[in-house]
Amino acid sequence: MSKSKILVVGGTGYIGKRIVKASLAQGHPTYVLMRREIGYDIDKLQMLLSFKEQGARLIEGSFSDHQSLVDAVKQVDVVICTMSGVQFRSHNILLQLKLVDAIKEAGNIKVCIM
Ligand SMILES: NC(=O)c1ccc[n+]([C@@H]2O[C@H](COP(=O)([O-])OP(=O)(O)OC[C@H]3O[C@@H](n4cnc5c(N)ncnc54)[C@H](OP(=O)(O)O)[C@@H]3O)[C@@H](O)[C@H]2O)c1
Repeated sequence: MSKSKILVVGGTGYIGKRIVKASLAQGHPTYVLMRREIGYDIDKLQMLLSFKEQGARLIEGSFSDHQSLVDAVKQVDVVICTMSGVQFRSHNILLQLKLVDAIKEAGNIKVCIM
């Protein structure tokens, strides 16, 4: 049976990087959202490149670009969102709702963990 394709959103975070490594270790085709907003954050870019060297696929996108989220989730079966970083919990939830909208529009996701 083929392994589920997994997209990790927030992959450079404390929890996210562990999920990316676990997904790769389990042999899942693993995709990581590379947010445009990270710009030239060297630490994040190095981490993302290291994921790529370990076999992950990087997908460019942004929470400010609905279509980019739809295009990202269309490529996978499972979405794991470990995003954080926004000061107020309610703002985090609003951002997560953008991902939920994209998942609903894409219509292909079997499992979503947030
Ligand atoms: N750390 C813990 O011990 C712990 C324990 C229990 C629950 N949690 C929960 O797990 C989740 C992740 O926690 P964490 O500690 O891993 O968080 P974190 O390290 O602070 O950050 C997670 C990731 O969120 C993304 N992010 C940051 N700002 C963003 C923004 N404005 N828009 C979209 N994405 C943004 C970044 O990933 P990219 O730049 O790669 O997109 C960042 O690396 C949170 O909901 C937290 O409450 C954490």
